[in-house]
Amino acid sequence: MREDHLEVLLYGSPQLRRKSEEITVFDDDLRRLARRMETCMIEERGIGLAAPQVGVHRRMLIAENQRSGGPSILCLVNPEVVETSQEKDKYQEGCLSLPEVFADVMRPVRVRVRYQDLDGREQEIEDDDILARILQHEIDHLEGVLFVDHLSMLKRRILSKKLKELSRLAAAQARESSSE
Ligand code: CO
Repeated sequence: MREDHLEVLLYGSPQLRRKSEEITVFDDDLRRLARRMETCMIEERGIGLAAPQVGVHRRMLIAENQRSGGPSILCLVNPEVVETSQEKDKYQEGCLSLPEVFADVMRPVRVRVRYQDLDGREQEIEDDDILARILQHEIDHLEGVLFVDHLSMLKRRILSKKLKELSRLAAAQARESSSE
């Protein structure tokens, strides 16, 4: 295994349920983690990735920026939703920690998020499109929340076979990484 390679933890891993901690040091290690997460997300063809998904329980996420202008990948440190629209809608979500699981999730259409950049400067971003969706999904990860948690019991039951299978894979993944 390449030394720099990050592995995405699968549904069922208790690590995905842990709350992440605030970042207070903005140094080269943090920038290196952001770069490694970017590489990981691109390799896995994701559009968002939160640090706890790669086993790092710190409040950082990266998100594909499909809007014109600005960087193609955003990195948000200590992100916090400060405003949401009343209006909500459904959108089909997936997650690198839940491969092949997709479901419609109801969320506010528009959000305003306050965060720090990699230099620790305060920033704000507002969106009412896919980015708003990605940000809400990834911020959930920092709280140990997964998109399937938003589904009704019935919908979760429909997915239960896939979720059980993922939990088995997650257990195997944990055994593998502990024996490395
Ligand atoms: Co996810």
